[in-house]
Amino acid sequence: MSFELITTRTEGRVGIVTLNRPKQLNALNDQLMNELGQALKGFDDDADIGCMIVTGSEKAFAAGADIGAMAKYTFADVYSGDYITRNWETIRSVRKPVIAAVSGFALGGGCELAMMCDFIIAADNAKFGQPEIKLGIIPGAGGTQRLPRAVGKAKAMDMALTGRMMDATEAERAGLVSRVVPLDKLMDEALGAALMICEYSLPSVMAAKECVNRAFEGGLRVLHAARQWPPADH
Ligand code: HXC
Repeated sequence: MSFELITTRTEGRVGIVTLNRPKQLNALNDQLMNELGQALKGFDDDADIGCMIVTGSEKAFAAGADIGAMAKYTFADVYSGDYITRNWETIRSVRKPVIAAVSGFALGGGCELAMMCDFIIAADNAKFGQPEIKLGIIPGAGGTQRLPRAVGKAKAMDMALTGRMMDATEAERAGLVSRVVPLDKLMDEALGAALMICEYSLPSVMAAKECVNRAFEGGLRVLHAARQWPPADH
């Protein structure tokens, strides 16, 4: 497959996708999200791949959804065209682990994309934020759902309502990222984690990912009910 707005490569059994719209700080448009989804699904279907990494540039993981592209959308366009749901969430259907290696800005849709990955390793120059409020809109791809679950209501409200950025130290303290490393060690650290995951039993890795995501995304009562199938009252 050939791509225009991303690059892909492999290191051992790790599939690496690099967002590649440097002039726009990796602003996320339809084409980029389609390419990202195709690349991740391709790696997911490849028996030689055990884990994936999504990364950006030193200056920006992604500075958000493409503001220019969104400017002309009407509500009817967005609703009938299934904007966001159509292709942004492909990453959530990937069953093998996906690590976000984040340096620089991860704002708006960029922060949301990082949160859609299974965990985030951040460089010490990373900055996370949901600045949509400054544009008169609200986070539209998980910023009002995944962010509060990751960092708690207080910090999520603070970020969504003020639009302020969180640096890497605060993001690690708040639980948004799993590790912070110097910028020049970011890919080594992410690759080390990914290669370690590749050493383990793939079905166990996939099951662990699925269980954590079900616990994170579902209610505890739903999990309890799932263990009692068929339901007691049937
Ligand atoms: C389109 C973008 C962009 C974006 C940056 N650029 N962010 N283009 N969409 N989200 C472009 C700029 O227009 C500029 O293009 C180039 O990238 C470099 O940006 P600068 O502003 O010159 O760089 P700098 O001064 O270093 O500032 C970096 C920045 C700033 C702080 C990240 O660019 C910024 O605030 N960007 C917008 C961040 C944002 O609001 N994100 C949320 C978007 S809404 P030119 O052509 O002028 O050189 C969103 C909704 C998601 O994500 C939910 C789904 C609906």
